[in-house]
Amino acid sequence: MRVEVFLSGGSVLPDDVRGRTVIVIDVLRASTTIATALSNGARAVIPVGDMAEAGKMVANLDPASYRLGGERDGVPIEGYHFGNSPREYSRDAIGDRTVILLTTNGSGAIVRCAEAAEVLVGGFVNAEAVAAHARKAGRDVVIVCAGWRNRISLEDTLCAGLFLDLVWGEAVPGIMTDSAYIAWTMYRAERHDLLGPIQRCNHAKRLEGLGYGEDVAICARRDTLPLVPVYREGRLVRLQETAAAA
Ligand code: MLT
Repeated sequence: MRVEVFLSGGSVLPDDVRGRTVIVIDVLRASTTIATALSNGARAVIPVGDMAEAGKMVANLDPASYRLGGERDGVPIEGYHFGNSPREYSRDAIGDRTVILLTTNGSGAIVRCAEAAEVLVGGFVNAEAVAAHARKAGRDVVIVCAGWRNRISLEDTLCAGLFLDLVWGEAVPGIMTDSAYIAWTMYRAERHDLLGPIQRCNHAKRLEGLGYGEDVAICARRDTLPLVPVYREGRLVRLQETAAAA
């Protein structure tokens, strides 16, 4: 099984993902928020690329059936029900509703990978579950880091390294792409204390400045939300619900 890594999601093209399993990573914080919302009973999370799309999406919906969440540069969007802090997406707040989510990098990265055979959303909080499903699916894998405004972000790169470690297991290839080498060697070097480098990264500092420092620790925890968000017909749902419906 070949595994490729895009360290920044902005450069991914449909041909890069077609026929493959894609794992989109946005550690801080979209991946974690999506896993939290689905774990707390959201029917689905609909990622959108911009505000116009979000507006169009909700225009025909019963207001009781959805919640609109999102941020720009970490700051909640005025008029939306929630920002992008996983702590906002509690069972009480979400209930049995659909979440429409617009984030600076993560939601657009998911939408851009729609041509893949299967798109999964992963972070530290659900790494084992997502990697196990990707291994079982047996296709070549593309790991897409959302990054930050077309730049590489440290936390997503470390998490990409973790996914490489989990997907490869003992079968580490002798030759890997440069981006996979960067992610994997960085993860292997830092794996005994991941919180340290994550707390130092640019976006963690930005979030801390905005009063969301607690989110960083939540997003850095391993396997606290063992579920697989999968993108089907424009919606992210829990994998087992998809299987049951099929
Ligand atoms: C993003 O999409 O860049 C993030 O999830 C930003 C955040 O809310 O921390």
